[in-house]
Amino acid sequence: MNSTSHPPGTNATQPRGQVSVSPEGEVFSLPTPSDLAQENQRLQELVRAQRALGREIVVVMGVGFVGAVMAGVVADAVHRETGEPLYFVIGMQRPSPRSYWKIPYLNRGQAPVEAEDPEVAPLIARCVNEKQTMTATFSYDALALADIVVVDVQCDYHKNALGDVRDGHAEIRALEESLKIIGKKIAPHCLVVIETTVPPGTTEYVAYPILKKAFEARGLSVNLDVPENDQNSEKLVLEHQPGVEPLLAHSYERVMPGREYVASIRDFWRVCAATNPEARDKVVRFLSNVLNVEKYPLTVLDRPIESETCKIVENSYRATILAFMDEWSRFSERNGVDLLKVIEAIKVRPTHDNMIFPGPGIGGYCLPKDGGLGVWAYNTLMGFEDDIFKITPLAIDINDTRSLHVAQLVRDALRNMGRIVAASRVAILGASYRQDVGDTRYSGSEIVVRKIAEMGGEIVVHDPYVKRWWELERQESYPGPGKSWARFFRNQEGLSNLKMAEDLASALAGVDAVVLAVPHQPYKALTPDQVVEMIGAPAAIVDCFGLLTDEHIARYFELGCEVKGLGRGHIQRIKKQVKNSIK
Ligand SMILES: NC(=O)c1ccc[n+]([C@@H]2O[C@H](COP(=O)([O-])OP(=O)(O)OC[C@H]3O[C@@H](n4cnc5c(N)ncnc54)[C@H](O)[C@@H]3O)[C@@H](O)[C@H]2O)c1
Repeated sequence: MNSTSHPPGTNATQPRGQVSVSPEGEVFSLPTPSDLAQENQRLQELVRAQRALGREIVVVMGVGFVGAVMAGVVADAVHRETGEPLYFVIGMQRPSPRSYWKIPYLNRGQAPVEAEDPEVAPLIARCVNEKQTMTATFSYDALALADIVVVDVQCDYHKNALGDVRDGHAEIRALEESLKIIGKKIAPHCLVVIETTVPPGTTEYVAYPILKKAFEARGLSVNLDVPENDQNSEKLVLEHQPGVEPLLAHSYERVMPGREYVASIRDFWRVCAATNPEARDKVVRFLSNVLNVEKYPLTVLDRPIESETCKIVENSYRATILAFMDEWSRFSERNGVDLLKVIEAIKVRPTHDNMIFPGPGIGGYCLPKDGGLGVWAYNTLMGFEDDIFKITPLAIDINDTRSLHVAQLVRDALRNMGRIVAASRVAILGASYRQDVGDTRYSGSEIVVRKIAEMGGEIVVHDPYVKRWWELERQESYPGPGKSWARFFRNQEGLSNLKMAEDLASALAGVDAVVLAVPHQPYKALTPDQVVEMIGAPAAIVDCFGLLTDEHIARYFELGCEVKGLGRGHIQRIKKQVKNSIK
């Protein structure tokens, strides 16, 4: 192991003085070059002791939403008969100002992700402090100690326009950089499992050549054979020479941050595939050791591109069934139909029971981008020029722009009360992308806020699970410089000063409109009388997620409010009934 050099193309350590600040506001100094040798010494000693206990060493590269909890699941795995831990896990994280804090958090047994799942915090604490099967590091030299490397770094898709996913590209640079470092550092026997959702083909067309070349440069490989026949999948299982071929596999995550966070990794079905038989055997053994494969059997596919395609099709399917409902949602609004009841009536058919009410845009990290990775791979990695993709990109475009309609409903509800958006204060209840989680990535609420800000409205936001809304507070740099959705709207500057309201009563006091943007449990429990009392006067109420019962809607009208809702065309009918009963 080279303990003094920095990984090529990266800064393993930073000049003195730089800091990384955790979401809770704790400040950590970034490691300096002089810290590296000491850190490597620490890792070597730990690994020596762990190997003596018969444990294999697993490096999880990237301890974000997926990697942090996956690292915990691996570190918690025990031998089925002896109950002895199987693996020692090193969570590896680049020491950037944005992410370094995750390392000291993990090293004191604290999860670096906010989780509603009560299993997450004890899992991390148990593995770090009690079982002592996990540590975290900023040193890329940890890779040289690994028997298995699990790659959980991000692979984003950059969109140049709102509502046109074709005008964009996959950002595979972080992944390529990670793979280059892996190729330079790992031992030849080390299995590399890519869990990152990647453009189909990435493992074979990008990762394999990178590792292969790195092995050759290190004098580890002599085999230059390239598979000949593109039509024959059998032949595409890359030729294997023990000891010199990289051992590469792909197995994507289906993790769902939320109440079932840990179970969604450990107690759930997995798909995997590898570039050669030895890698396949190794990845099957590894996943069988750490996941509940008795109850949730593994699916082993022939080629990594099939596993990669599975993930993209799985998420494109979900994005598509949601996008499909957008036109029926508008149809419902204009024709007196309650889409919520339509969906419930259809879902009784077992063949249709996965139909979902589409909220204000389909957010989260995965659904807005994954189909784009597929289209990009087809054109870029595979080099096809024809246009076979119709539905996948269209679904993403519809989902990305659906929440603009919420601002129109706010406008219309206010207008019915004789008010305009530009002179109104609007409360957004819910900032995250789905109910009962604190994850705000690409949430529909963000677009609602941005559009209302563009129209001149004043905004206040409440979310029981979100303390800081980084997409707004740090819009100059988050999720990356020039990447904020702010770039698609005017009048966004003031949003950097937006602070999340501490409680619901202060969020609602004196507002003109309330947008029920996310069906968090506490919002579902609210009665119209409570809401109007907190506001202090009747207001415009916009329901984005079918939160309101018909009784609630009627009561809001009785209290003098105006109500509108995505996909809820029957509201007009209730309004008339209430008016007639008051006359
Ligand atoms: N979040 C989800 O719900 C979810 C669900 C299923 C699949 N996925 C997929 O899992 C992958 C990871 O997603 P995530 O949500 O954990 O992302 P994330 O941004 O939370 O985490 C990625 C981490 O990798 C680190 N990183 C980047 N480059 C690195 C490098 N060279 N060395 C070490 N660390 C590096 C980053 O600093 C970050 O901490 C993505 O492909 C995503 O699509 C995510």
